[in-house]
Amino acid sequence: MTDRIEMKPQPSLEELVHWDRSIVWHAFSQMAEYDGLIISSAKGCTLTDVFGNEYLDGASSLWCNVFGHRVPEIDQAIVEQLASVAHVTNLGMSHPVTITLAKRLIDLAPSSLQHVFFAGDGASAVEVAMKLAFQYWRQCDHPEPQRTKFLALGDAYHGDTLGTVSISGVSRFQSLFAPLLFEVIRGPCPDSYRTPDGMTVPEANRYYLDSYRRLLQDHSHEIVAVVAEPRVQGAAGFICQPAGFLEGLAQLCKEFGVLLIADEIAVGMGRTGKMFALEHTPSGCDPVEPDLMCIGKGLTGGYLPMSATLASSRIWEAFLGSHAESKTFYHGHTYGGNPLSAAAAHAVLDLFATRFPLAMIRQRAETFSQLLVSLREIPHVGDVRQMGMMAAVELVKDPTTREPFSWDQRIAHDVCCRLLRRGIWLRPLGNVIPIIPPLSISEKELACLIDGLRAELLAIRMT
Ligand SMILES: Cc1ncc(COP(=O)(O)O)c(C=O)c1O
Repeated sequence: MTDRIEMKPQPSLEELVHWDRSIVWHAFSQMAEYDGLIISSAKGCTLTDVFGNEYLDGASSLWCNVFGHRVPEIDQAIVEQLASVAHVTNLGMSHPVTITLAKRLIDLAPSSLQHVFFAGDGASAVEVAMKLAFQYWRQCDHPEPQRTKFLALGDAYHGDTLGTVSISGVSRFQSLFAPLLFEVIRGPCPDSYRTPDGMTVPEANRYYLDSYRRLLQDHSHEIVAVVAEPRVQGAAGFICQPAGFLEGLAQLCKEFGVLLIADEIAVGMGRTGKMFALEHTPSGCDPVEPDLMCIGKGLTGGYLPMSATLASSRIWEAFLGSHAESKTFYHGHTYGGNPLSAAAAHAVLDLFATRFPLAMIRQRAETFSQLLVSLREIPHVGDVRQMGMMAAVELVKDPTTREPFSWDQRIAHDVCCRLLRRGIWLRPLGNVIPIIPPLSISEKELACLIDGLRAELLAIRMT
């Protein structure tokens, strides 16, 4: 250790690669085998690495990029904000750009949501929702302090902090930490591809909802809230819920008097062709009106960290009182509501209002859908699923039985390594290859992405 601070180093490329492998601890990466890209610049949907190689970004910088990289409007909004102030704490202070963003978010969100708590990342937003829901039952008009449990979906993913890992259900990520996690009531994973006993999707929907009804019948008195990713369970492998499942679940929450937390971190911000995935209400169903909703990832267009937990007035009012009543929400994040992030988020919403209206995104999703057809007949492609501008290809050992490849065969990983050599970046999830391009991707780029994937799926030996 030394008091002497050196100026920023100017390493050679070899040093950079070495430091990146030996010093930087990469997320969700086995560092003993690490061989990642080092991106030096990006523009639109193209990433450029330090060696000058270009890659089409088919993963939107891990599902957060919305309109590509170096978007003039977002760049400018951040630069303009820098000219006034970079950061203002939201502990007892505010900034106009953050206040107006909160107002814009509630204007867009389901009408049940009227208040906004800002944090920095998705997991924090979900933690906030869980803690707000828990505290709500302790200080609402008719307190029910026996409510201590959450009801979560099978194979859910809500983040990597201990609270969100507790409610997540992807065992490979969480089993090691079991002694640290709290008990959760877990329902089935509402999967439209692998339905129970070969049921049709509508039958499976009834089966799933009946299971949730039984869980609520037995446990609603001790349940704080139901937590759900609306429509698509992303990290579980882009598992699509049957149409109407979310509406059925929301109805059950009302019937049994438990709160509903919608985690829109992955599916919100236009990704599915609506601003929020829960808006895809099937005809004849009531719209979903959650008590709490979490957004993150695309909120700043994939530029800066920011997430938000939107809350209903019913929740908000339960926290009002004099200081002495101790109803305050004692929770905060240093960078919550950061003005630079808020400026980027305003620019993103402005872009939806001008250059990239949601109707246009839905049209692009149609083109996407037509291109995806070419992947369906490839051997070992078990399923190609899509919702708006998010799609996924699931590789299976046997498409007839839907038997999965063993996870250590890393088939999808091998396909993605080959794609990288072709200049296409996709990041696998087990046997699933998500295709999550920026919403602004051109038709030509989209065609290039799918053609490349098709070629590699046909070329690789899968046994
Ligand atoms: C549905 C969902 N919730 C929460 C998170 C956690 O977000 P973050 O990685 O920003 O903490 C993710 C991340 O992928 C997610 O997909």
